[in-house]
Amino acid sequence: MTGRPAVVPGSFDPVTLGHLDVIRRAESLFGRVVVGVGVNGAKQALLPVATRVALIEACVRDLPGVEVAPVLGLLAEFCQDLGAVAIVKGLRGGQDLGHEEPMALVNKELTGIETVFLAAAPTWGHVSSTLVKEVARHGGDVSAYVSPAVRDALMNAFEQGGDVR
Ligand code: PNS
Repeated sequence: MTGRPAVVPGSFDPVTLGHLDVIRRAESLFGRVVVGVGVNGAKQALLPVATRVALIEACVRDLPGVEVAPVLGLLAEFCQDLGAVAIVKGLRGGQDLGHEEPMALVNKELTGIETVFLAAAPTWGHVSSTLVKEVARHGGDVSAYVSPAVRDALMNAFEQGGDVR
């Protein structure tokens, strides 16, 4: 796939069906999408970055315009290196906006690249990786929120003594 991509960044710890809806919508808007799996310094991750990348790759096999890559340093540099046309993030209301707006402004100041926000579909507005991990950690069924492979990876992580912060 050629052309300047849009970057959909996130921790994706783990990727949810809500994230996948945003990735699909970004692909239909921009044609080419790179999903950037980054490290959020404020959060302790459950799954290693390589596992998060592999789980997303398995979920986007039917989307020819979508690639997945780890963000090893600054998101702004990752986007610049790719010649990204935009950063795309899903918004689940005001709380997300409060968290996302400063990052969008900093990324714009660092690179000139705009962030485009997509309103989360109502079906997924209440779904977050944190909530999914909380349910899975206590043995609850998360099949309505994540792919079967992600559900299995979570069960595995918690069986091996993973913790959620
Ligand atoms: O899913 P999240 O936790 O909202 O994703 C946050 C993420 C990973 C996109 C953000 O923390 C990030 O971009 N990290 C990479 C390092 C970086 O560029 N930090 C400055 C952001 S303005």
